[in-house]
Amino acid sequence: MRIGFVGTGTIASAVIEGIAADGHQITVSRRSATRSGALAARFDSVTVADNQQVIDNSDVVVLGLMADQAADILGGLTLRADQQVISLMAGASLEAVARLVAPARAVAVMIPFPAIAQGGSPILLRGDAGLVRELFGVRNTIFELGSDAELDAYMCAQAVLSPALRLVDDAADWAGARGADRAGAEAFLRLLVGSSLLGSETGPMLAALDTPGGYNQRLRNHMVNAGLTGDLRAGLDELAGDGS
Ligand SMILES: NC(=O)c1ccc[n+]([C@@H]2O[C@H](COP(=O)([O-])OP(=O)(O)OC[C@H]3O[C@@H](n4cnc5c(N)ncnc54)[C@H](OP(=O)(O)O)[C@@H]3O)[C@@H](O)[C@H]2O)c1
Repeated sequence: MRIGFVGTGTIASAVIEGIAADGHQITVSRRSATRSGALAARFDSVTVADNQQVIDNSDVVVLGLMADQAADILGGLTLRADQQVISLMAGASLEAVARLVAPARAVAVMIPFPAIAQGGSPILLRGDAGLVRELFGVRNTIFELGSDAELDAYMCAQAVLSPALRLVDDAADWAGARGADRAGAEAFLRLLVGSSLLGSETGPMLAALDTPGGYNQRLRNHMVNAGLTGDLRAGLDELAGDGS
């Protein structure tokens, strides 16, 4: 396919890396110049161009812009009715994107994560999944969402990643301070948590980690009693805009 990226920032670069060897002809916005230049230097399939040329050279246009800048930037550009558009922009609904890119067809809002560069990443999706599945579905797992409210809930809930990482990082620090090799402890904890989460649903795993008086039960109860779950829910409510 001929695929154009308007906005070559952090997440667009990861998305491009993920499909650069798949035989597509990819054109990317000159901005950000460092990123677009690095992609073109690394992949024969990637060419750098100005925004209008990116669009003119493409059948599929991917928007990697910040949502609050998209109207101004796209307002100065012309898309064609035969083009399909995928938006990576959080905070812009499919309907809003459709208005910005007419007469081109907004097929999907796709929220990728940085691991899409290597594959094995989840992708959140609103809209028609066909094109996104064709481009990214072999290496990644697509979660198709039925409403904007559902996408909003996922967007808030996915922020649990960073507190989860913080717990692992702090536990590795703690082990390091107790005489363990810090790097080894972190590698062990990443494998432990990652493989456990991939291997089982959370309910059965929590039950299996509930040995009375065991390490897991004692630490979990300590943290829940200290307010862990209440704090998490309050934080998620705040992200969703219904916190205090
Ligand atoms: N980062 C993530 O993990 C992630 C995940 C899912 C979705 N998203 C969404 O993806 C979008 C981009 O996020 P990001 O993290 O990749 O941010 P970013 O790195 O700041 O990317 C935005 C890009 O837009 C470019 N830009 C600004 N004005 C432009 C113009 N007139 N023409 C062409 N390009 C222009 C910027 O270039 P300059 O740097 O030169 O200003 C930058 O490369 C956002 O809507 C975000 O919600 C991000």
